[in-house]
Amino acid sequence: MSPITRILVLLLAIGGGMVYKQINQLWGDLPAPKLDLEEWWGDEAAPKDYEAYVANTSEVINNRLSYPEATIEDLIKQLNRTLRLTPPLEGVAFEYGFNSDYLKELVKYWRDDYLPRWREREVFLWQFNQFTTDIQGLRMHFLHLMVYDQNKVGKQHYPVLLLHGWPGSVREFYDFIHLLHQSNLDENNKYIFNVIVPSMPGYAWSQGTSRPGLGPAQVAVVMRNLMLRLGYKKFFVQGGDWGSIVGSHLATLFPENVLGYHSNMCNNLSPKSQVKGLLASFWPSLYAPSGYEDFFFPKSREFNHLIEESGYFHLQATKPDTIGAALTDNPVGLAAYILEKFSTWTNPGYRSLADGGITKRYKLDALLDNLMIYYLTNSITTSQRLYAEAYTKEQRELRLERVPTLVPTGCARFKHDIMQFLDVQLEYKYKNLIHSTYYKNGGHFAALEVPQVLYKDFIEFVKKVERKFKIPTL
Ligand SMILES: *[C@@H]1O[C@H](CO)[C@@H](O)[C@H](O)[C@H]1NC(C)=O
Ligand SMILES: *[C@@H]1O[C@H](CO)[C@@H](O)[C@H](O)[C@H]1NC(C)=O
Repeated sequence: MSPITRILVLLLAIGGGMVYKQINQLWGDLPAPKLDLEEWWGDEAAPKDYEAYVANTSEVINNRLSYPEATIEDLIKQLNRTLRLTPPLEGVAFEYGFNSDYLKELVKYWRDDYLPRWREREVFLWQFNQFTTDIQGLRMHFLHLMVYDQNKVGKQHYPVLLLHGWPGSVREFYDFIHLLHQSNLDENNKYIFNVIVPSMPGYAWSQGTSRPGLGPAQVAVVMRNLMLRLGYKKFFVQGGDWGSIVGSHLATLFPENVLGYHSNMCNNLSPKSQVKGLLASFWPSLYAPSGYEDFFFPKSREFNHLIEESGYFHLQATKPDTIGAALTDNPVGLAAYILEKFSTWTNPGYRSLADGGITKRYKLDALLDNLMIYYLTNSITTSQRLYAEAYTKEQRELRLERVPTLVPTGCARFKHDIMQFLDVQLEYKYKNLIHSTYYKNGGHFAALEVPQVLYKDFIEFVKKVERKFKIPTL
């Protein structure tokens, strides 16, 4: 090498190193931020003595609400008003949103069939033990199924936290809960689960906060404190939608508490992951497992879908209270707004069906149970504020998408879910992605739509975690 070449090589190396450092600053791994584990979200001023507050409010009480006859009669009356809905355009099904002809039919079923059976639905909804307790100033609601016979011979016993999203509720998990809780009867596995299913703060019977700042990261803290309150120091986490994001934050911020994180909407929006996704689109066969390329590509479909279907997201992230006001005391509007998601997010192809394919994959009663939970608890506005809190400057600056998650991670992908991420996009963050699966049947609400499939997938994940990581005896 001539001296000049040597100098050039040296300069190139230095230059390359500097560029690498710059890029790394933009997208390298970051350390976990420290969050306030006692942050106060209650209506009153924060207590002076937090420990005394905890000691005083750590009681877990049975919560079995029953709504007075008058509430249900009032709803029936509201649904009995003459509907001044605008008819759909010629030949249009769900492409412009919830079809108003079908909405009339749905309202009729809700009023004349479902609501007269409300007491029966209440018995169904309260089939699991439900509780409330105070966490960081908020009255939190959750289902808690305990297995008392913990010493069943040859059975391994684990707690699992199930996290729902929007516009869902604990109701999405009912079949899945049965499967988990009765897994001790399942010949194929050796597990028994204690199942904990909270309503997110501001959702259903869990109190919403009265101050800004309760984003997904802070919700993860609340959930972790709830689990500790119940005596669970180590547990599995499962979630989709916001439950997936809160669960990911929980696993990232508190790895000492999470045995494994399983999600049916694994995602990572870090710059690295996005660039990789774009690059992968040039060589789909190199990155997507064979036979499942259409989960991810073509990217143009994903882009179109984003434009067509994300209006609600922008609205809720920017003006949750305005859309909240439009939906409050407006059961028909609430039904259209919420149930449209159960159509399109289950299968985008259902937009061309006159009834949105609503009953293809769900029982109407199950969807109305979920809707009733939003209506009765008047929680649509507080539920939508989670979007706004997720996109504040403070929340974004936590940069959790770039903080590595070390706990064992499992990703179940369902074909019609609203977004899909390749393993190569997830591995940057989830350093122990040990389970990655694909299902051609199913969409965004997997727990409600295909509980058996999700259950089997979750059990497979637990088995892998056990095999690869020594789980300490709990
Ligand atoms: C504890 O609860 C009792 C009864 O609800 C109340 O009177 C008392 O002030 C509380 N103490 C603290 C430290 O919050
Ligand atoms: C519903 O409205 C009809 C007439 O518009 C009336 O006859 C009926 O009693 C109403 N039902 C209820 C439950 O209010």
